[in-house]
Amino acid sequence: MFNPVEIIKLKRENRPIPKDSLTRFIKEYASGRIPDYQMSAFLMAVFLQGMTVEEMVTLVHSMRDSGKVLDLSDIDGFKLGKHSTGGVGDKISLVLAPLLASMGISIPMISGRGLGHSGGTLDKLESIPGLNPVVSLAKFKRVLKKVGFVISGQTDELVPADRRMYSLRDVTATIESIPLVVGSIMSKKLAEDLDGLLLDVKTGKGAFFRSQKDAIHLAKLLIQVGLDFGVETRALLTDMDQPTGCAVGNWLEVQEAIQCLRGEGPSDTMELVYSLGIVALRIAGDVDAPGEIVSKLQQSISSGRALEKFFAYVHELGGDTSVIEKDKRFPLPREHQVLSQKAGNLSAIDAYEIGMASCLAGAGRLRMEDDVDHFAGILLKKQVGEGVEIGEPLATFYTRKDIKPEIENQIRNAITISETPGKPVKPVRGEIDRNGRLMSFGI
Ligand code: URA
Repeated sequence: MFNPVEIIKLKRENRPIPKDSLTRFIKEYASGRIPDYQMSAFLMAVFLQGMTVEEMVTLVHSMRDSGKVLDLSDIDGFKLGKHSTGGVGDKISLVLAPLLASMGISIPMISGRGLGHSGGTLDKLESIPGLNPVVSLAKFKRVLKKVGFVISGQTDELVPADRRMYSLRDVTATIESIPLVVGSIMSKKLAEDLDGLLLDVKTGKGAFFRSQKDAIHLAKLLIQVGLDFGVETRALLTDMDQPTGCAVGNWLEVQEAIQCLRGEGPSDTMELVYSLGIVALRIAGDVDAPGEIVSKLQQSISSGRALEKFFAYVHELGGDTSVIEKDKRFPLPREHQVLSQKAGNLSAIDAYEIGMASCLAGAGRLRMEDDVDHFAGILLKKQVGEGVEIGEPLATFYTRKDIKPEIENQIRNAITISETPGKPVKPVRGEIDRNGRLMSFGI
């Protein structure tokens, strides 16, 4: 008789789990026959004991097969997936997906919600009034065909195992586990019927894997699983010591993504978009020099084609395009300023602390059942490397909560002001090859 307790025990004692038992465990959980408390125990056992490569590959397979796998054979053109391992202020998917679609690449993207201190693409999209980013399989394909890209969530049809495990991990302190991250990311990506996959592997204070060594190990495993499944997979290692761009929080990030699609985004964010864009186009077969690829990406932005794609997607998913087209401002929650108490140079902005401050303001979940305040968040007024005077704004935050001093302190503590000039942070640390070597990458 199948007994979930035996599987939890095997993992607890670090003994191998037979392939069939692990597959059954995931299947039963996805269909609601194993309760959350048993899956929580299993997740913690994996977190503490790890998994063998064989178990991890079985996890990817069984999570992917907990739902349907897309068949996109009737969609023309190269089908590219993109995924980030998670960070603070990371709105790159909202820019890169329409940008690449405007250049003829099809982007089917299954994304997630906020995890821990990090933001989630679905929560960001839901801040657009009327937009429902969780669509049926039929609609997923229809929008992909019509617009050239689609971003949607896990559903009962698509990777239901990840839908449930993802939110459970968020509240059971089991996010930062390499096999669980590989299972979560690759089950979604391999359900997308891809020709190629671009991974943005984050490292630094605001990433799930702070140490570069761990992030590189994660990247190597993600690439190997992708290649083993026949998908051309490449990864950039990117910096998450400080938040990406100036906006942290769902609606604020959508607005910043639109600025990027107008070519007016913050320089670090645009550099990430172009760097990841180069790798994306290379995966799709472009052999031009990096400078030429960047020119093509810039043209798609300056012509307005990339932004048009974004509007078309918002329209198809029921979103109110007038709000974003006219850059209409919502009645945001009350605005509060964080003013500098010191003169000097900004030498660091701790992405983790800013992510937590944004969660405190209401932009993220502290418990599984929490509602997200889509309009809460933080706008950084200075970036690392800039000078600051006493009384100058460091950040603005928006919240409906009655904990203004706590949020203000959290933001203040995240920002280091020194006498010596800080060095601007380079957003891209390099490209990881399939053997886990870090190679230099420049644009
Ligand atoms: N992104 C995912 O989809 N899953 C994780 O576990 C982490 C980041």
